Amino acid sequence: MLDAEEKLHTVTITINGVRRTVSVEPRKLLVHLIRDDLDLTGTHIGCDTSQCGACTVDIDGAAVKSCTVLAVMADGSSITTIEGLAPAGGALHPIQVAFHEHHALQCGFCTPGMIMTIRELLKQNPNPSEREIRHGLSGNICRCTGYHNIVRAVESLAAGAQRHD
Ligand code: FES
Ligand code: FES
Repeated sequence: MLDAEEKLHTVTITINGVRRTVSVEPRKLLVHLIRDDLDLTGTHIGCDTSQCGACTVDIDGAAVKSCTVLAVMADGSSITTIEGLAPAGGALHPIQVAFHEHHALQCGFCTPGMIMTIRELLKQNPNPSEREIRHGLSGNICRCTGYHNIVRAVESLAAGAQRHD
């Protein structure tokens, strides 16, 4: 019979540009690795059943709900979290600036996931219509129901004039 130590798997990821290696149980979700093992608590957990989008991160260039991914599945990947968009003490990311300017957050719980989803949305479609924005954000739930100003913030970034990386 295997002891607890032997059941752990080694996962190596590059997260926000830093290579990290962590030992995890096979059942551990990526969102828990990010928050609990790496202390990157900007990635939130609203449901852990892939409904709310609060846990969205960028994995190898795609916005992914990190509660839908086992940590072991992320081995070898490159991940960006909300902390990776604007270094501590540095300038805010343009999407964060737009949220600030358009009052696109209330409690802020959904905001990191919204921003990571919008970042991909604008990469795929730099000039989305309101309908396309609302469709693109349909997997992210705001419990404060602040969708109107979130859409306005995204519209302010549309036109492709801003960098969204
Ligand atoms: Fe992942 Fe809600 S916590 S979708
Ligand atoms: Fe509160 Fe969206 S701002 S959940």
